[in-house]
Amino acid sequence: MSLDITTLVKKYDTPLYVYDFNNITNRYEELKGAFDGKKSLVAYAVKSNSNLAVIRHLAKLGAGADCVSIGEVHRALKAGVKKYRIIFSGVGKKDSEIREALQQDILLINLESEDEMKRVEMIANEMDVEARISIRVNPNVDPQTHPYISTGLHENKFGVSLDMAKRMYIYAKKSEHLNPVGIHFHIGSQLTELAPISEACEIVADLVRSLKAINIDIKFFDVGGGLGVVYNNETTIKPKDYAHAITQKIKGLDVTILSEPGRYMMANSGIFLTKVLYEKQNGEKRFVIVDGAMNDLIRPSLYNAYHKIEAVQKEGETTLADVVGPVCESGDFLGKNVALPPLNHNDILVVHSAGAYGFTMSSNYNTRGRSAEVAILDGKDYLIRERESFEDQIRLEEACDISWQE
Ligand code: LLP
Repeated sequence: MSLDITTLVKKYDTPLYVYDFNNITNRYEELKGAFDGKKSLVAYAVKSNSNLAVIRHLAKLGAGADCVSIGEVHRALKAGVKKYRIIFSGVGKKDSEIREALQQDILLINLESEDEMKRVEMIANEMDVEARISIRVNPNVDPQTHPYISTGLHENKFGVSLDMAKRMYIYAKKSEHLNPVGIHFHIGSQLTELAPISEACEIVADLVRSLKAINIDIKFFDVGGGLGVVYNNETTIKPKDYAHAITQKIKGLDVTILSEPGRYMMANSGIFLTKVLYEKQNGEKRFVIVDGAMNDLIRPSLYNAYHKIEAVQKEGETTLADVVGPVCESGDFLGKNVALPPLNHNDILVVHSAGAYGFTMSSNYNTRGRSAEVAILDGKDYLIRERESFEDQIRLEEACDISWQE
């Protein structure tokens, strides 16, 4: 990102998320281009960064949206994603969410259990519509990633077994209110190995073939998200290799390939900026206390995730320090043993690879307002979310009648 960080911080203050929209374009084009010549739809995983401007930018490029709540579906629609490019997944959809998804006539609802299928059928029946569905299968493949973001094993709560999926397809095919158009799997996130993806594709493609043999014609082959990115020194999967591995396994099938990348699109399109408040030394240990915290970026605390941290001012000898925030938890850190030069009040630190699962996982813990977000497009900066004020935070409490306490 070629931008003047100091100027941005002067203008917008910290903590601050900054996204490079040109990089988002490049990532999208590269992935979409990898499927050139094939029917494909890149349905951006809105959960990774659901700012309306981000979704709008991707919608304009032709992306669809992978949503896991009706709120995300509304964001996608509001941001201009075409309804026929929106899919709705998630293990626990409420009746009201199912009803609305059907009303909105989105591309498909992705089912994760037999129970859920029956509810979708019942609601579609009440509404006298046909629900286009896909079924998330759990191919029981080890994605070789962090256990918290591994989803394709039977021990995970996601999807249904292959046998169950087949039974569900047979049921759905007979139902007047269900139209089974897709199949879906997502084995995990931050995948850096191609083999588990290939294996899952093969297993699921075999199921599609066996469904075809009984006249159940699957049109959308959804490979989920999960493409890994470089946080530190990981070797990642090239989009071309990814697309090749998938197309190899679905030879002879007339399907549209759906993919649901989130992190791949956003992680390295964003940085998180924070200012130094104080330095302190507790015995041997050096702490750099900053104004950003776990409520802003929880990945280090939650997954022990690594985010590269650099100081804008680079003078002086570096020593190791833990970069910690003001939240009252020992787990509140952005980085451990980070090599940093001597720092002063208001020096700026850049936390890298923060564009995915950064802002979207932020909270108001300790009554801290959520950060502002800024987009950079063609060298210009645009505010895309205002800094949250104290008033914003208490609005819903103040809206309540508290006369009973008087
Ligand atoms: N599709 C499905 C069904 C998913 O469950 C996910 C992510 C994605 C797509 C997008 O995955 P991606 O391409 O971003 O890897 N908060 C965690 C990541 C949780 C991912 C959950 N599911 C983190 O910060 O690492």
